[in-house]
Amino acid sequence: MRPLFPTSRPRRLRYNSVLREMISETSLSLNDFIMPLFVRPGKEERVPIQSMPGNFQLSVDELVKECKELSDLGIKAVLLFGIPETKDEDGTVATHDHSIVQQGIRAIKKELPDMYIIADVCNCEYTTHGHCGTIIDGDVDNDSTLITLANQSVSLARAGADMIAPSDMMDGRIGAIRKALDENGYEKTPIMAYSAKFASAFYGPFRDAAESAPQFGDRRTYQMDFRNGDEALREIEADIAEGADIVMVKPALSFMDVIARAKDRYNVPMAAYNVSGEFSMVKAASENGWVDEDRIIMEIMYSLKRAGTDLIISYHSKRVSEILNNK
Ligand code: PBG
Repeated sequence: MRPLFPTSRPRRLRYNSVLREMISETSLSLNDFIMPLFVRPGKEERVPIQSMPGNFQLSVDELVKECKELSDLGIKAVLLFGIPETKDEDGTVATHDHSIVQQGIRAIKKELPDMYIIADVCNCEYTTHGHCGTIIDGDVDNDSTLITLANQSVSLARAGADMIAPSDMMDGRIGAIRKALDENGYEKTPIMAYSAKFASAFYGPFRDAAESAPQFGDRRTYQMDFRNGDEALREIEADIAEGADIVMVKPALSFMDVIARAKDRYNVPMAAYNVSGEFSMVKAASENGWVDEDRIIMEIMYSLKRAGTDLIISYHSKRVSEILNNK
């Protein structure tokens, strides 16, 4: 005689792989992936980023090649960051129409008009001190930074950017950028706001990649404290009120609670940024043979979707496309 008769047997649904597929709650589509790319001056330059294996600082011609490859794999959107030839005190170098990202956008659009180009907007890659805004009295001055951010956004839109993605965390930037875009005839250009962007150690490898580490202090007077979830929702709410079309949570994996709460509460399109440190940890562990890279990548991507994100910005995007294409 059997000692136990469970009334509930969830395992019934797990024995058959066809059934497992039938009842799976989450799916991945290449429509949801955005690949971040770094553009630098030069020609035929493909400078490996040591801390992010498989990623490069690309000269404009190489950037176009990379976009072609991504497009052939089914990736439809890229997020661009710039490594400029020269930097200045307040990031004005990024507001000029001949700046490096603007050059990259025009070159991609010429060859691949359908590639959806999202331009990151921030000053940290363009300032000598590496902070995201203009320094006044030792502080990143909020309101004067809004001016360079707005000018940078308009110039990027003029170059052909399909979407603007401000990552600076100044107060009021979404409203300021929305107004500047509208006044210059770019009222159709959407804004994806890095709304809940936390001051995070997970950005370490990116600062190598973009050469944007702050030369003094840290970013904790503008990026959020990772202990705070309610505050993240307030940031998201403010950005929606100022005109954000898509809101983002960044980093992704330590903040899935924020993604889930925000999706529940606001019902707007959401993006999660699976950042450099999250990428590099997977790479390092798999290069050591400690984890199965492809399985870990897919578990991460499905988990982010399950948490409620619509879009995923990830350096794994290329690999994800290969896996989904069975390559
Ligand atoms: C610029 C910016 C950063 C990232 C995206 N935009 C770095 C930072 O805030 O220091 C990080 C992306 C990553 O780690 O992958 N402000």
